[in-house]
Amino acid sequence: MSDFSKSATPNSVAIIMDGNGRWATQRSLDRCEGHIAGARAISAVLRALFEKEVHFVTLYAFSTENWKRPRAEVSAIMSLIYRYLNDTVIPEIKSDARLSIRFIGDLTPLDKELRESCEYAEKISRGGEYTCAVALNYGGRAEILHAVNEAIREGATAIDEQTLSRHLYTRAMPDPDLIIRTGGELRTSNFLIWQSAYSEYVILDKLWPDITPEDIISSLDEYTHRKRRYGGL
Ligand code: IPE
Ligand code: IPE
Ligand code: MG
Repeated sequence: MSDFSKSATPNSVAIIMDGNGRWATQRSLDRCEGHIAGARAISAVLRALFEKEVHFVTLYAFSTENWKRPRAEVSAIMSLIYRYLNDTVIPEIKSDARLSIRFIGDLTPLDKELRESCEYAEKISRGGEYTCAVALNYGGRAEILHAVNEAIREGATAIDEQTLSRHLYTRAMPDPDLIIRTGGELRTSNFLIWQSAYSEYVILDKLWPDITPEDIISSLDEYTHRKRRYGGL
């Protein structure tokens, strides 16, 4: 790895879609309205990323810590994901064979209907050229523990990086080149903590429901000016 000049367009981008609640509060709306507006912003952003030949997009939809929120908000988010999946994602996958969806996270605590919709969407979308991974009930620490325990169950006595990576939810995907966080917070919030070891970060102050494809394209442009050194010179 001797060329440390500008980075090419990223192949794998992950997004922390943050700021829905603040967007609603600023408008004196219920936080759930912010989540509805946030869901509306997703399709255009995904389309723009795929058009730029980003082959893997990971979206942080619900964290293992988000269960701490009021019950009504959690259940509104879950219903929204269910509706978005059935009304938008599944029809899109059916009409465009290039699109694949997969879920990362522990789906077992989800309602049966939602879990089955996730599994159905994954089943009908194997092998697409462009993959969207949805992090749902996802936590980086939980993922690492899950991977370690799975490796132990399979008989591993010592775990190296390859073994661990092979047991992560993201095993079929490259590590993110670029992680975009909207809403201005400067933290990972337990997102892809193993995979992001050498990811580039772009933090956008805009709240997720206000995000346009142009904002995301600007982040890709910013990425191309980064020099990734991976610890080298
Ligand atoms: C992100 O927006 C969506 C989820 C966590 C599900 P937030 O709901 O965290 O919005 P803010 O950060 O409170 O504005
Ligand atoms: C991260 O946002 C999770 C998602 C965007 C789904 P949070 O709003 O949960 O993160 P914190 O609580 O501000 O760290
Ligand atoms: Mg937030």
